[in-house]
Amino acid sequence: MYTVRKVTEDLYWVGANDHRLALFENIFPISRGVSYNSYLLEDEKTVLFDTVDWSAARDLIKNIKDVIGDKDLDYVVVHHMEPDHGGSLEEICIRYPNVTIVSSEQGFEIMRQIGFSKVDEHKQIIVKEGDTISFGKHTFAFVEAPMVHWPEVLMSFDVTNGVLFTADAFGSFGALDGKLFNDEVNFDRDWLDDARRYYSNIVGKYGPFVQDVLKKAATLDIKYICPLHGPVWRNDFAYLLDKYDKWSKYEPEETGVVIAYASMYGNTEHAAQTLASRLCDKGMTNVVVHDVSRTDVSELISDVFKYSHLVLASVTYNLNIYPVMKNFIMDMAALNVQNRTIAIIENGTWACTVGDKMEEIIDDELKLCDVLNDRVTINTSLNKANANDMNSLVDSILESMKNIKELKEKLNK
Ligand code: FEO
Repeated sequence: MYTVRKVTEDLYWVGANDHRLALFENIFPISRGVSYNSYLLEDEKTVLFDTVDWSAARDLIKNIKDVIGDKDLDYVVVHHMEPDHGGSLEEICIRYPNVTIVSSEQGFEIMRQIGFSKVDEHKQIIVKEGDTISFGKHTFAFVEAPMVHWPEVLMSFDVTNGVLFTADAFGSFGALDGKLFNDEVNFDRDWLDDARRYYSNIVGKYGPFVQDVLKKAATLDIKYICPLHGPVWRNDFAYLLDKYDKWSKYEPEETGVVIAYASMYGNTEHAAQTLASRLCDKGMTNVVVHDVSRTDVSELISDVFKYSHLVLASVTYNLNIYPVMKNFIMDMAALNVQNRTIAIIENGTWACTVGDKMEEIIDDELKLCDVLNDRVTINTSLNKANANDMNSLVDSILESMKNIKELKEKLNK
């Protein structure tokens, strides 16, 4: 009954799907919803791994009862205290007054900061890297994963059967809606874009920390990856790990071009579309075009993580960068975007300053990004004189793609 799914012999998914929340963290649109994954181990001891957002506590409680009935809950392990997972901890404490809470030292501090008054009425076990706890047949080893995505984050590994609980890592936006495992969905078709958008916007800033975790994971014999959002992985780990490796090294997944334009009356948009057509003319059809006024910045960021090249086309506004374009560039800086080739198209009717302004921020804030010299400057609308500039920009983009490919081949030899 209810929405429980069996993960392994003794482990159950008891989480919840949320289609009511419009904005995750009150900032990211989630048109496909989101899942809060909570897991319940029924061993000699009963153990809950993380909870759900408080708005979904009813689903969690029903699911727990569905698995253990009137049995008591012995432990709740809190890998990550962000309220989308820790939000129902107080409810668990109230319903299960004998439950022992297991978390990192900082995890407990955050529980108190949130105001969970019941926490200190419970037995507490503080765990750190390398600590183990046995719940019966199953013994768990704890792994510290700071900044993936908060500083208190823990992962844990069931050494008995190879189940790795990864907190936010390997998670995704999107509600599960009955499906649970990666092989029950077409991940590449239906989930990858949301997984990338989730990673790049939420954990993207912390690539080196993710690299540290990937190195630790490489030493484990993993059979299942249980994240706190999205599908549970039970095969095809190489696919997932390769994506995470690329994203956390800020390496593009694909050679291609994102053209992001800020246009007031359609002229800069026309320039962006012209560039897209000219690139396709020359065989580079892996091109996406976004209106920064209409595309949510989280989607722009996701595509920047995916593609190798970025063209910023902006109108001048108040002698500066058009506000939504500036927000996009500053968001790239905040999320540590690096290692991209960037081109600039600027537009201005009487004082075209936006190109220099954008280049200044890129130089100051974005690491290891090359700005191509072939900038296109438009005086209000594209004219014949711009045709040569546009052709030069296309050639320059294609040339840089060729150079990157040759460099990679050399490095791989
Ligand atoms: Fe899904 Fe950082 O919480």
